[in-house]
This record gives sequence, C-alpha cells and structure tokens, in this order.
Amino acid sequence: MAWRELFSVDDIKVDERKVVTIEDNDILIIRTGHNVFAVEARCPHLNLPLKRGRVSEDDVLTCPYHHSKFDLHTGEVRDWSTWPPGIGKAVGKLSKEKPLKIYPVKIEDNKLFIDL
Ligand code: FES
Repeated sequence: MAWRELFSVDDIKVDERKVVTIEDNDILIIRTGHNVFAVEARCPHLNLPLKRGRVSEDDVLTCPYHHSKFDLHTGEVRDWSTWPPGIGKAVGKLSKEKPLKIYPVKIEDNKLFIDL
C-alpha cells in the first residue's frame, strides 16, 4: 500500500467533489453523506470528466454525458451509455465496456488518505 495524504476531511463538504492530480493521475474525490470515494476523474467510456456526475443514495455515479453508471465501491459498470435515447447504445459501442478505476481511501486524524 502506498498511502498518500490528501487534505483534511473538513476541506470537502458533503456532496462536494474535488479533482486532485497525483503522479499524472487525475482523481475525483467525492464526499457523500456517509462516505468518501476516490475514482479516476474521467469516464472510461469516452474519457470525459465525471466531476458533474450524479451520485445516487446507493453510491452509484452516473456520467453526465451518456449516463453510464458505476458502483463507487467496486467501480463495476451498472449501465453502459444509455443516453441520448435512441442512439445512446450505439454511442456506447465507440468504446469497449470497462469499469471505473477506484482507489481505496481511509481517514485518520481527520485527514483523508488515498492508496495509489
Ligand atoms: S463519456 Fe461517460 S458515458 Fe460517455
């Protein structure tokens, strides 16, 4: 494990997102009401930014572009490119279905750490 200290948990509010760059990796930090997640900042479909994606109560992140859905705990695909209606599935074929990369996080002494 290669834990890296990021910032104080108090520096990210509930429902806020931050993008940090570590060793050329852009990582999206998402704080929900009950958890903090760290995932790759760009969607594995077409490499577009996920920062504005919606997070559901069951911790599923929806890409704001073609609405692919990813489990924030495992990175697994819940749905792949469903939007816009009619052509979303065809747009999905532009890239092979692949999971979202996730990074383990931990909180110690009110500081957030990420494992690269
Ligand atoms: S870029 Fe995310 S679903 Fe297409």
